[in-house]
Amino acid sequence: MKPEDFELFSTLVRQRSGLVLTPEKAYLLESRLFPVARKHNLKTLEDMAQALRTKREEALMFDITEAMTTNESFFFRDLKPFALFQKKILPEMLTSRAAKKQLRIWSAAASSGQEAYSLAMICAEEAARLQGWKVEIIGTDLSREMITRAKAGIYSQFEVQRGLPVTHLVKYFQQIAGDKWQIKDNIRQMVQFRESNLLSDFGVTGIFDVVYCRNVLIYFDLPTKTRVLNAIAAIMAPDGLLLLGGAETVLGVCDKFKPSPGEHGLYVLA
Ligand SMILES: C[S@@+](CC[C@H](N)C(=O)[O-])C[C@H]1O[C@@H](n2cnc3c(N)ncnc32)[C@H](O)[C@@H]1O
Repeated sequence: MKPEDFELFSTLVRQRSGLVLTPEKAYLLESRLFPVARKHNLKTLEDMAQALRTKREEALMFDITEAMTTNESFFFRDLKPFALFQKKILPEMLTSRAAKKQLRIWSAAASSGQEAYSLAMICAEEAARLQGWKVEIIGTDLSREMITRAKAGIYSQFEVQRGLPVTHLVKYFQQIAGDKWQIKDNIRQMVQFRESNLLSDFGVTGIFDVVYCRNVLIYFDLPTKTRVLNAIAAIMAPDGLLLLGGAETVLGVCDKFKPSPGEHGLYVLA
């Protein structure tokens, strides 16, 4: 790919999503953009760069950005953030919010929904203690394709074998055609999914008690990480909790949060 075409595509993706593509990622860009070129009846990536320069068509810019998102996710990813939710966060919130009986959880960068559904399954496991409570779980993601998948709640055999305990598969999923499994309606109805961009309005309103923003900041540059974390801090309850991915931190990035002592990946407002 010509350096000026790489620059054009990577600048577009960065402006629209925050995702940083360094020149070593040129191979990734190429393999992901070929199908976009085909979809838009363009023979080569050079033709696509030219089309972008001349027309700046929204549909093309949208598809290029969408193609560059990395949507890897799985149920109960890394275990700890979910064990923490069940053993510490939920019991503490049950006490601190006993008067209001309301809990709002946001899975920012929800991808195909596994994170939000993992939290919903924990809430279902704890149904007896949550009786009379209003629990809202909202999942958002930039990718339209991922949000469509998350809403459908349909996963392949491979996806349900990654991280999901067999007991949960049996209890919360039903097998549909072929090797596909669909999450049962009672769990699906516990989560709302919406398409939205962490660089703009977030697509959510109100104050959140718990925010999972995992494995997305890692793809942003420092100013973008700071901007997103500052904006998350502004919509959190004063005693709200933030969970980041294993390779992410607020340290040196955002002074509105500080680590929760002894709990890697868990942050409280500073
Ligand atoms: C690697 S997945 C992480 C999914 C899940 N949080 C997890 O840890 O398993 C990263 C997700 O971030 C989304 N994403 C990337 N840039 C975004 C942005 N600017 N706004 C919202 N979502 C974004 C991608 O579409 C992708 O689905």
